[in-house]
Amino acid sequence: DDIIIALGGGMVGDLAGFVAATFLRGMFWVQVPTSLVAMVDASIGGKVGVNHPEGKNLIGAFYQPNLVLADCQTLTTLPQRELISGWAEVIKHGMILDEEFVQFLESNVNRLTKLEPKLLARAIAHSAAIKAQVVNQDEKEREGKRTILNYGHTIAHGLEAATQYKRFLHGEAVAIGMMGAAKLSQRLGLLPSAAVERQQALLQKFALWRKRRLSFILGLLRYR
Ligand SMILES: NC(=O)c1ccc[n+]([C@@H]2O[C@H](COP(=O)([O-])OP(=O)(O)OC[C@H]3O[C@@H](n4cnc5c(N)ncnc54)[C@H](O)[C@@H]3O)[C@@H](O)[C@H]2O)c1
Ligand SMILES: [Zn+2]
Repeated sequence: DDIIIALGGGMVGDLAGFVAATFLRGMFWVQVPTSLVAMVDASIGGKVGVNHPEGKNLIGAFYQPNLVLADCQTLTTLPQRELISGWAEVIKHGMILDEEFVQFLESNVNRLTKLEPKLLARAIAHSAAIKAQVVNQDEKEREGKRTILNYGHTIAHGLEAATQYKRFLHGEAVAIGMMGAAKLSQRLGLLPSAAVERQQALLQKFALWRKRRLSFILGLLRYR
């Protein structure tokens, strides 16, 4: 009847969840996420695991927690850069599925970045709900629906790997990846330029986008 409680960021949750999945062939476990990334992303969906020298998240399982309990107050001690990185996944959730939520983020940037409790709780709950809704439709990423959550992540993973996971926080790389994906889609005629500009403006407001040297990023991604 023992319970594992994962109190911390996404890394703690992934590790604790993996232990919960494997120890005694499965234990009850509770996620108490304390970072924005963990609240809106890592604690939802049941992907648990650890890294291996051969690759990220190479060892893992799908194992849903029995409860996820997020206290937004914990974010007041989270380093600013970690917080900003978390907003990238929140914005991503809006961009992939919920135009109204994008509007909500656009209208409340200042209050959200100041961690105003009521609005913050609303943004986190809604963002987590979007992820949960997608996961519900394709829990084990078999029917393709869950892949929508990977928006921006193809380029992001490339950038993170090319810089040995040292230069970018995950959300910072995701923001660049979302801009890359949007601009490519625009060039292919799949996305109007207004949508690209809107995404860029929102990322800028959350301090997730500035005109970076494009040649530097392309240089990182060049096939060696
Ligand atoms: N399972 C999934 O679906 C999923 C999804 C996204 C990310 N992840 C994983 O989650 C990890 C990223 O999560 P993260 O961004 O939380 O990183 P993290 O767990 O490394 O935490 C970031 C830093 O913030 C600190 N921290 C956490 N909460 C704090 C608080 N309230 N006050 C002060 N400091 C605090 C941590 O100690 C750490 O130094 C990665 O390992 C990633 O692979 C998993
Ligand atoms: Zn991500």
